[in-house]
Order: sequence, then structure tokens, then C-alpha cells
Amino acid sequence: MTPRPTAPDLTGQADPTGCPISARAAAFDPFEDGYQQDPPGYVEWSREEEPVFYSPVLGYWVVTRYDDIKAIFRDNHTFSPAVALEKITPTGEEANAVLASYDYGIDRTLVNEDEPAHMPRRRALMQPFSPEELAHHEEKVRTLAREYVDSFVDDGRADLVDQMFWEIPLTVALDFLGVPDEDKPTLRKYSIAHTVNTWGRPKPEEQVAVAHAVGNFWQYAGTVLEKMREHPDEPGWMQYGVRTRKELPEVVTDSYLHSMMMAGIVAAHETTANALANAVKLLLEHREIWEAICADPSLIPNTVEECLRVNGSQAAWRRITTRDTTVGGIDIPAGSRILMVSSSGNLDRRRFEDPAMVDVRRDDAADHLTFGYGAHQCLGKNLARLEMQIILDELTRRLPHLRAAEQEFTYVPNTSFRGPEHLWVEWNPELNPERADASVRAPRVSVNIGEPTDAHRSRHMRVRRVVDAGEGVRHLTMVSDDGTALPSVTPGAHIDVVCGDTGLVRQYSLCGPPAAPTGCPRAAAPRPEAYEIAVLREPDSRGGSTWIHENVREGDVLTVRGPRNHFRLPDVSDRLVLVAGGIGITPVMAMAAWAQENEIPYELHYLGRGRHRMAFVDELEARHGERLVVHDSGAGVRADLTALMRDLDEEGRAGRVHVYACGPQRMIDELAEAGADWAEGSLVFEHFSSTLGALDPEKEHAFTVRLDDSDRDLSVPADRTLLDTLREAGLSIPSNCEEGLCGTCEAPVLDGEIDHRDVVLTPAERRDGARMMSCCSRATGDHLTLGL
Ligand code: HEM
Ligand code: FES
Repeated sequence: MTPRPTAPDLTGQADPTGCPISARAAAFDPFEDGYQQDPPGYVEWSREEEPVFYSPVLGYWVVTRYDDIKAIFRDNHTFSPAVALEKITPTGEEANAVLASYDYGIDRTLVNEDEPAHMPRRRALMQPFSPEELAHHEEKVRTLAREYVDSFVDDGRADLVDQMFWEIPLTVALDFLGVPDEDKPTLRKYSIAHTVNTWGRPKPEEQVAVAHAVGNFWQYAGTVLEKMREHPDEPGWMQYGVRTRKELPEVVTDSYLHSMMMAGIVAAHETTANALANAVKLLLEHREIWEAICADPSLIPNTVEECLRVNGSQAAWRRITTRDTTVGGIDIPAGSRILMVSSSGNLDRRRFEDPAMVDVRRDDAADHLTFGYGAHQCLGKNLARLEMQIILDELTRRLPHLRAAEQEFTYVPNTSFRGPEHLWVEWNPELNPERADASVRAPRVSVNIGEPTDAHRSRHMRVRRVVDAGEGVRHLTMVSDDGTALPSVTPGAHIDVVCGDTGLVRQYSLCGPPAAPTGCPRAAAPRPEAYEIAVLREPDSRGGSTWIHENVREGDVLTVRGPRNHFRLPDVSDRLVLVAGGIGITPVMAMAAWAQENEIPYELHYLGRGRHRMAFVDELEARHGERLVVHDSGAGVRADLTALMRDLDEEGRAGRVHVYACGPQRMIDELAEAGADWAEGSLVFEHFSSTLGALDPEKEHAFTVRLDDSDRDLSVPADRTLLDTLREAGLSIPSNCEEGLCGTCEAPVLDGEIDHRDVVLTPAERRDGARMMSCCSRATGDHLTLGL
């Protein structure tokens, strides 16, 4: 862990709202080596204790928790991206004069453009990023990867940054943009200068040299653009922009094209070069993972995501508030600049189980914030993913014996673009596998364009024990089949179990082993050797539990995804009241064990119909003694939940007690009604999936969709999105945000009235009714016809 910044004495300093600035907030300096080496470690104190703070060094509010950062990304009206390319350190007069002498004038591109201008432009320029278009780049990237490795494979030592990672993404970026590939070393110099100018703190004596390089970069961008205008039909995203400008001059402006020409090279190149260096460094530091992907390349797509999560190349990103607002409970005035330390959000234990573990089977790794989120989420992310997958495949296949050499890692000091300047690696060329077997030079896997699929992020778990834990309840203990470590879990976590080839996937809470004391009540338990679930056979359900009861035996290997936790205990609690009905005991018993081990006052109410049907009841009595209250209606002891809630009412309204409940709907409804006026977060129920944007089948209606091009009819159920339905029917529709923010999942509509729920389409487009966002919008009536 990085040492916390030492605190100068800042008694008396206040933030713009008049609140005192803490010593650690005052000492925060993202240009220091501590931040460069390990941004999430550097702000760990903030993530835990002061997640939103004002930095007088930067003049920015700094935000470090996942949910707060995502909420900012989600609302690009309140949190404008206009400052994304602003110089974070204002330059002196001399440097400004140099920039002016080059007519330097970087302005609005995409990433720093506000609505309503941004979204039409983004959508107009999106097509070259479609999976079909990106597939054209695969062969070129493979050839480059092979040639670069050829150039050093027999040397036994290389600096992967200088000899491969910097140049391949630059070549690909230029190719994608349609820029001639003649001056790569100069462009490398220019783009570093742009990074320092925009996100760094150049010393006064450096500022002039940086300004010259940035000015030259600007001029270079202008010259290349002029040439493109003469040949607009050539391939390339910029030429696509030049052509689109002719059709939509007010959407794709001249100023946009010039600024994007410069920003685009950096966006497409430096980000990916750094991401590669960070990924390979991380994997070589975790040898067992490197070896796992050498042995099984199907792990590569999700490894890319996990590397971007744990050691991504965008450490932080910026916004400015357009009105007075609140972030993480802290009031922030209009006009405030915000630095979102997305790399810190990626390690937030409130969002990811065992966040510090590099877990290449993590099923939510791709939920990292390294590509941003929402309306501005990185358009080029699938190109970056493609490059990273191909290069990791090439290296793990041809140089599995690669090791990091002894070295000190250095970084260009800046807030955002992060990757080591050099990455020296060594190996014994005599052991190169291709010397014995030339077929090693051939690629092993086809590239996955887009987010990893379920197949890339599953665990194989061997069932070690199956016992009955009550009537109709099977208690399964599972260990990792290949011996890889399992992430530690927090109480309330669940896993998804794939029920053979039935197509069913079911969620089960992890019920054990009981959490060991952790020393810190908020921390996860140590990494467990096994996961335990208890499955009630529910004959009326859709068959998952029946499948498990009838098919799963000791020694079987199950496919499992997760863990995830949507039923998370609060960080701090004076008192926990845990209520379980029937098989709802499973997450709740993990919570009770945790509370006991960590000496949090708690009580456990267990409702059931007959002791023989109440799983684990003896074990719970032995463990929790008087803290357990068994309400066995079979023995005439009915639970009076309304009375229980009444007794807790004062504490609940004040937020001094936390009631966590899992069980049948009737039980939940009774608790919810009694606690309707309680403080937010003091009455919490189990949800197996994130409830954000979830469809309420009681409020929605089903409809049919006719797919005109493919001559098919589909039904969209009340609890499923159109996007889900289209994908289940085998159509490949790209998506990003899946909540109507980013414009990726657009579908053409030929007939039917649309219930638009996105913020992407303009009022005129809505009236026109010719397109819809399939992730969130639905039919007003009972049918739609799509041009798919
Ligand atoms: C935007 C990161 C690769 C093109 C962004 C943003 C981030 C980012 C953080 C801002 C997101 C927001 O404000 O919500 C990255 C990382 C990359 C990468 C970490 C590599 C690992 C690329 C590539 C391209 C590209 C290869 C182009 C080929 C863009 C564009 C935007 C963008 C055009 C602006 C989108 C908009 O504002 O609508 N990227 N990027 N990026 N990126 Fe990337
Ligand atoms: Fe983002 Fe649908 S609008 S995926």
C-alpha cells in the first residue's frame, strides 16, 4: 500500500463551500510519484474516509468512490465534460505566446462537447466503430503483432514499450483515423507533449518546449486535414468525418474536425499503448495468471477487462458542474471542477468483491470505469480491446517464459494518462517454443469484439460435498476445479449457477463458511477455500432447483459466475436486525456470522414452517444462542413482524438500526409497509440483480416485434428489454450503457408507436418515430416492426 501523504499544517484553510479542508486532502498531489505509481492506493484513505474532497493543489473537487463517479458520468448535463481537454495547470505568458504563434486553438471535439451538440455528432460518427467495421482491423493488428515480436524474439531482452506497445497502437490509430503513417517518432513526441500540456504540471522552464511541440502538433493536424479534404473518399474515420460534414455541416463542424484530428491521435493511441504496458506489467507481477492465460487463451478477453480495471490507462477524468449540486452527500457549487479518480472507483470494495484481487474470471470486470460511462463513454473501446487481445495472445503464445526485468518504473507526471515509460522484460531465447514447434506462431483464438461473453468469465467449480440441510434443502460445498484462488466475499454475496445445458442460470446466496474475524469490520473475509450454497427444491419454480437436486453429485464440475453482492451490509451500523424467511436464511446467516465475529450488536429472526424444513436451524442455535429467535409457525410461534418493526420504529426512522431481510414476498411486503418512513438504507431486502433501471413487470406490458428484414416475429415479455429479446434471438446488437444514455443500441423502426425512454434522440426524431434505443424504449401499443 502506498503511504498516505504527509500532512502539512493547514489549519484554517477552507474549501469553496467554507468547510475546513482535511490535512490529507490538502496534501493530495496527483503529480507526485505516489499517485503515478499507484493512483487507487494513493487515494485509499479518501475512498474509505473522505470520498469527496476539495484539493487546493488542483483547485478541483476529487471524487474516489465508484457509485459517485458513475453518477457523475451518468449526468452529463449537471456535470459537463467541457473541461475534459482544458489545461489542468495554466501555463505562463511565454508558453501562451508560443501556442498563439502556432494559432493553437483546440476546441470542442466529442469528449468535451456539451449537449445538445454532442449526441447528434457522436451518432453521426459512430458507424466506423461498429463490430463489422472493426473486424477489418483484426488482420492488420495480427500482422503487426507478429512482426514486432519477430523483431526481438531471439534477443532475450526487450523494452516492450519502446519496441512494441507504443508503435502498434500508433500505427493502428493512424490507420483507423486515415492519417498517413510516415512520421511516427515525431507524433510520439507530440502526443506526450499534448498529455503534459493538458493533464500535467510542466515546470515553468519546460512549458515553452512543450508549447512548441503542442503548437507543431496542432499545425500538423491542420495540414493532414487539408490533405484529407482533397481525398475525402479514402478510408479512415477522419475522412468519414469530412464526408459527414458535407451532409451535416452544423453537426460536424470545421472546428471539430481540426481539434479531433489532434485529440483523436492521442485518444486512440496513447490510451492503448499505456493500457498494454500496464496490463503486461500486472500479469507478469502475477505469474500464476500469466501462466493461466498461456495455458488457456480463452481467458484473454476477460483478462483485458480485469487489467483495465485494476491497472487501467486512464487514472482519472474531468467534469465541471453547471449548477449547484451534491456528490456523495457533499454540496458542490455551480462552476466547480471535478476530478473523478476512476482508477480508484475500480477498486471500490462497495462495488467489486475482493477488489484488489486480480481475478481474470471476475464476471463484472468489464463494469470498470476506465472507458468512462454514459453519453461520452469511449467510442474506441472495442478497437482497444481488439488490439490488447491480439497482443496478449501473441506474447503469451510465443514468449510464455517472459519475465519482468529488475527495474524502476517511471511515469509521465499527469492526472490521467498513465502507463510506465519503459517495461523491460527478459527470457531465454533457447526456450522459445517456436524453435521446437513452428505452429506456435499461428494465432490460437479469434478475437472477441466487444465485452467478454459469459464463456470468458465463468469459473469451473468441483462439488466437494452435498448434504441435506433440512427437508428439501441441499447444501453444496464447491471448490475451484483448477486450484485457482477464489475471491473473498462480503456477507450477502451470491453466485450464478449454470444448470447444465438446460439454459437455466440461477442465483444462490453464499451461506458460508462463516466469516473469520478480519480486524476491520468493513473488510471482506480472507479468501475462502470453498463456496457454499443451499438450494431449496421448489417444484413450482422454473426448474433450476429441481435440476440441481436431481443432477448434482459430489465430484461434478459446475459452471459458476460471480460472486457479486447486491445485498451489501452498511459500512457502519450500531445495530443489525436480520430477518430470514425459509431459504432466505442463506445470505442472512452469513451476515449474522460476520456480525458475531466482528462484534456488531445483532439479532437474527428466522421464520419457517416446521423445524425440519428450516435449514441449518440447529447449527444456528448453537452458534447464536439467544440472539437467534426462531419463529416456527409449525409449532404455533408466528412472527409478528409489524410488532417487531414498531419496536424498532424510532431507531429506524433515525437510521440507527439496519434491518436486512430475505424471504418470501409476503414477508418483505409486511416489513416494507411497516418501515415505509424509515431512513434511507435502514431497511434493505435481497435483490439478486442490480435494481438500477430494472423493469417492473407490474407496470410494463409485453409486445410483439416483427423483424422485417429477417422475416421473424418475437415476443418481448413485460420483464425483458427489447435488446435482451433481440439478443436472445441471435441478433448481434452492440450496447454500452443499457440505460438510454449513449446511443449505441439504436434500432430502425418501420411501424408501430414507440414509448421512448432514452435521452439520446432529439424531439424531432422522437416524433419521426423511425428509430429507437432498444435497451430501454418499448412499444406504446402491442407491436412494433423493426428494420432488422
Ligand atoms: C472517450 C478512455 C481507446 C476514441 C474516452 C473517455 C475515456 C477513454 C476515459 C471519456 C469517457 C467519458 O467521458 O465518459 C480510453 C481508454 C482507451 C481508449 C482507456 C484504451 C485502453 C480509444 C481508442 C479510440 C478512442 C482506440 C479511437 C479509435 C475515443 C473517443 C471518445 C473517447 C472518440 C469520445 C467519445 C464521446 O465523447 O462521445 N476514451 N479510450 N478511445 N475515446 Fe477512448
Ligand atoms: Fe446506451 Fe442503449 S442507449 S446501450
